[in-house]
Amino acid sequence: MNLVELQQYLDFAFIIAVVLFILAIKWLSSPATARRGVLAGEIAAALAVAATLCNPELVQFKWIIITLIIGAAIGIPLGMVKMTAVPQRTALSHAFGALSAAIIGIAEYYVGVPRVTRFEMGEIALEVIIGSLTFTGSLIAAGKLQEILPQRPITYRGQNIVSLSVLSAALVLAVILVVNPNQAYLFPAMVVVALFFGILLVTPIGGADMPTVISLLNSYAGFSAALLGFVLNSKVLVVAGALDGSSGFVLSVIMCKAMNRSFANVMFGAFGQVQASSSAVQEDRVVRSATPEEAASILEAASRVVVVPGYGMAVAQAQHKVRELYDTLTKRGVDVRFAIHPVAGRMPGHMNVLLAEADIPYDRLIEMDEINGDFPQTDVALIIGANDVTNPAARTDKSSPIYGMPILDVDKAHTVMVIKRSMNPGFAGIDNPLYYMDQTLMLFGDAKGFVSNIVRELTAAGVHA
Ligand code: TAP
Repeated sequence: MNLVELQQYLDFAFIIAVVLFILAIKWLSSPATARRGVLAGEIAAALAVAATLCNPELVQFKWIIITLIIGAAIGIPLGMVKMTAVPQRTALSHAFGALSAAIIGIAEYYVGVPRVTRFEMGEIALEVIIGSLTFTGSLIAAGKLQEILPQRPITYRGQNIVSLSVLSAALVLAVILVVNPNQAYLFPAMVVVALFFGILLVTPIGGADMPTVISLLNSYAGFSAALLGFVLNSKVLVVAGALDGSSGFVLSVIMCKAMNRSFANVMFGAFGQVQASSSAVQEDRVVRSATPEEAASILEAASRVVVVPGYGMAVAQAQHKVRELYDTLTKRGVDVRFAIHPVAGRMPGHMNVLLAEADIPYDRLIEMDEINGDFPQTDVALIIGANDVTNPAARTDKSSPIYGMPILDVDKAHTVMVIKRSMNPGFAGIDNPLYYMDQTLMLFGDAKGFVSNIVRELTAAGVHA
């Protein structure tokens, strides 16, 4: 095979990879096709890597093999973390992706200088700045999620001015370099300032806002890879980076909408500090609680039950016990469905993933908009470790920080039962008036333990019946 033919084969492989990347994104948008989407993405990435390695310009494989081994040694254990650690694992992947984009950009500069054109310098500078700030920003995000760093927003007076000045400094250095790309001594300064800006960008954001931030950083990493594609003249990298960047951006927009918050509020709002809404400070309100035995008999007498899972179910890893509860009630003829709020939990699709892991049928998982109209005909809304996504203050209390956030209308069900360990607030740090309503019963305890006690009571009642 001559070089021209080889190049044609390689171009064809890249086109197939690009098509598979596009299909992967499409299939990932539904739980029913998500596995196929992951497989398509894996094949596309493997094909792109294999085709790149067949490039006739590559003459030395020693360093490629060494780095592949190091990458696999880090990547394989990273892929095996627990489900609750997936957000920080994802942040680390973005950090590594952005770091490699930045390093390649840096290498391209030093290999090219003094022949780097102004246009190339512009591409390299932008790509290296985005890659560097994404690297440090993602590390801070991972640290907050792993609780190595404080979760609370760390803020100080004049913070936004300081952060913007640092970003401006990186951009000014980039512009000076574009005007004269041969001032190589300015290049490391630009990289260091961009790395520093990544730290300043993410430190003031609360730990619980990290999923949105990670999705944004994902989009930055994607755009940085797309820019790198221009630098390296790699079409597959341009397309894959643009897909990654734009899908991450769309996901961030969806998350902000579901929380009824703006990007600016997520990035600069220091959300997640405990605060009181106007209805919160009423000491005389009554809270009713119930035992697993009482909860079991209410569930047994119901015809329609809607389970509302939330972050607490993920923390307690209660999904398999929830599956047992679903099986036990379904066997008794109770209609059990699951109401999925788009931002329940701490990452996009968190509840879908957990319930799928426990083999709960997809057709029992109903999206918020579809199920909200059914709550008035629901006998029991059983909330398992969810809080903000059920807070009626979002509809009624204009002073509440979550006012306007779309919620699951569980307060319209005949009976509401809430499994959580205490009266503590959820992510938004606010009180939930649902817990004081006449039809609400609090089931205090760990989600896994409480659900398994209900199942035990139901099973015992079945044996005695
Ligand atoms: P939250 O409002 O955070 O409430 C979770 C509740 O679970 C807490 O009130 C906690 O109460 C309870 N809990 C914790 N551990 C538990 C355990 N072991 N057993 C039983 N209960 C336990 O969660 P949510 O309703 O899922 O709402 C998600 C929040 O995260 C929203 O405010 C959303 O805006 C935000 N958020 C989500 C995302 C995505 S993409 N999902 C992204 C950014 C922000 P106790 O401490 O009393 O047990």
